[in-house]
Amino acid sequence: MTERTFVMVKPDGVQRGLVGEIVGRLEDRGLKMVGGKLMQIDRDLAEEHYGEHEDKPFFDDLVGFITSGPVMAMVWEGQDAVQQVRTMMGETDPAESAPGTIRGDFGLDLGRNVIHGSDTEPGSNEREIDLFFDEAELIHYERVDEQWLY
Ligand code: TYD
Ligand code: MG
Repeated sequence: MTERTFVMVKPDGVQRGLVGEIVGRLEDRGLKMVGGKLMQIDRDLAEEHYGEHEDKPFFDDLVGFITSGPVMAMVWEGQDAVQQVRTMMGETDPAESAPGTIRGDFGLDLGRNVIHGSDTEPGSNEREIDLFFDEAELIHYERVDEQWLY
């Protein structure tokens, strides 16, 4: 099933120059970027994006961290894109993430785990895409390889 997912290189990843590495991995996997922008998240957007965690003890630190510097917000499209990206990301905790995953290779700790990707809860992906992007910012195009490379 072709679907879209919201992906974000978090402030630690931007600061460490990992945007290209992460984009490259997603491209290599055959996923297609259909939207992307470097942006600074404000507090309101951060609280809405992470609304499911508002009662958790780590919420304030999480909002503080995600607003601490620029992020690279993106939309990626492909077969089972949500699960594909989650698999490539690794676990939430980098210490539990396998080598070869983005968090397993680059994540430092539970907060500074380099990347966000929509979870597999139905509707999470579209909710996050709508939160960060206007429809006009999402580009519709065909890539020569998308018929068979996935
Ligand atoms: P969560 O949605 O559970 O993880 P994921 O990013 O894998 O979807 O949590 C959101 C972010 O909150 C997570 O990337 C890092 C942070 N976090 C903590 O700081 N402490 C925690 O105990 C948890 C579960 C998450
Ligand atoms: Mg999550």
